[in-house]
This record gives sequence, C-alpha cells and structure tokens, in this order.
Amino acid sequence: MSEHIAVRNPNEISKLRKAGEVSARILMDLMPIIKPGITTKDIDNYAAELFKREKCGNAFLGYAGYPGQLCISVNEEIVHGIGGPRVLQDGDIVSLDAGAIVDGWYGDNAMTVPVGNVSDDAKRLLAVTEEALFRGIAEARQGNPLSEVCGAIEDFVKPFGFGIVREYVGHGVGRHLHEDPQIPNYRPSYHLPRLKRGMILAIEPMITLGSFRVKVLDDDWTAVTTDGSWAAHFEHTVAVGSRGGEILTERPRIALPEQLGITL
Ligand code: MF3
Ligand code: CO
Repeated sequence: MSEHIAVRNPNEISKLRKAGEVSARILMDLMPIIKPGITTKDIDNYAAELFKREKCGNAFLGYAGYPGQLCISVNEEIVHGIGGPRVLQDGDIVSLDAGAIVDGWYGDNAMTVPVGNVSDDAKRLLAVTEEALFRGIAEARQGNPLSEVCGAIEDFVKPFGFGIVREYVGHGVGRHLHEDPQIPNYRPSYHLPRLKRGMILAIEPMITLGSFRVKVLDDDWTAVTTDGSWAAHFEHTVAVGSRGGEILTERPRIALPEQLGITL
C-alpha cells in the first residue's frame, strides 16, 4: 500500500485549528435558519454569505466538480446532498457538512440537526451518531492502532441495531480535503497503521435507522439509503494527541440525549 500519513508540527496544527474553527463556525451559524419551510438551496445561499464573511476558501465547491457550497442531506439522504428545491418539513433531519480553507489548510466537519419537532427515533439516531463520533475521537491517541478508532465507532453503534454506512469513510485532511488514511466506521479486515501524534483525521460516522446500503441519485452526488431509512452524519477534524484526539473543529455538542430529552 502506498499510504503516507502526514504528521503535522504544532505550528501547522495551529493553522489547521484556524481552518477548523472557521469550518465549525459556518455550521453553527447555519443553525438559526434551519426551520420548516426553507429550501435546501436557501441553506446553500446563506452558506455562500458565511464563506464570504469569513473570507476563507471553500473546500467542497468545485471539488471533483461538486456544485454546492456545502453538502445538505435530508432524511434518507446520507451525504453529498446538493442544495435545491426540496423544502424542509417539520420533523425532518438535515445533515450539514462544510469545509473551509484558510492559508491553504483545510477543515472539515458535519452535523445532523432536527427541523422543528422530530420523532424519538430520529432523536436517538442523532444522539447515537454524535456519541459514536466522540467514541472514535477518544481512541485517536498516539500509539493506538487506527483500527481502534474504527472499532470504537462500530462497537458503540452495533447494540442499537442501526446501519453503519460502509461505502463512505473518514479520511486524513490537511493540505487537501482528502489525504491518507481512509477511516472506516467499522473495524476493517485489513491492517491499519498505528497513530502518531500530529496526524490529522476527519472522523465521520454515517449511521442509518435501517439498512447500511447506499445508492447514488441521478445527480451523481447525493447518496441515499436503499431502503429509505433516515441517516445521520457527524464529523470533526482532530489532531492525534497523547490522550486522544484534539478537536480542531471545536463547537458545542447538539445531540446529547439530555439536550434532546431522551435516554438511549
Ligand atoms: N465531508 C465530506 C467528505 O469528506 C464532504 C466531501 S463533499 C465534496 O467526503 F463535495 F467535497 F466532495
Ligand atoms: Co470529510
């Protein structure tokens, strides 16, 4: 395998943190407009303003021809949804995935938010997916095999009986949006390297209420569940540290069970 995982020094990590902070702020600043009645294109348009206000580059727009400011994926859409005429309804969930470029350094992060009042099943899906991300981050420790990050996500999600998407995975990030290594959300059958301090990982579990199977719509981007079950997606960019991953896209948690008024 021709895998090379970059190791970043503290000065480089502070630059990555700037890109991460901007990436996280863009997601959080979108929250207030996520209401029933708006279209996903409205979200994309507002994101364009936020990128302008931040005076940063956009990591997704134009990436492999991607046409949106960010990815906006509703309900059965898992990832890579493009803003368009779809109107958000009360009870929907919407995944927002955005990346900023600052001085040539990349941040990448995602979260799934409720639209109005959502079902307890939807709340459980959000809470489990966000917590799975944090279980993975906790294992992003120097000396730990990368497979422990993957395994922690799988081990946490499995007892809930939810689908773990396999076709899309997390990734290294830094000077490019996608760098080595790939980071599956399940313990892979192949060998993964040990983590070194300063490796930069975008960890991003994508979890469904039903099947893990995926198909891509005719727009060649939007990935949906084959069974129409709803999906959630949470992502942070982290630096491998001595006690676990240090989050570079720091933002408040939004899907703790107590925040949502549920128990898992
Ligand atoms: N977080 C997603 C990923 O890492 C976003 C990529 S969208 C793209 O794959 F448009 F840039 F491809
Ligand atoms: Co990503």
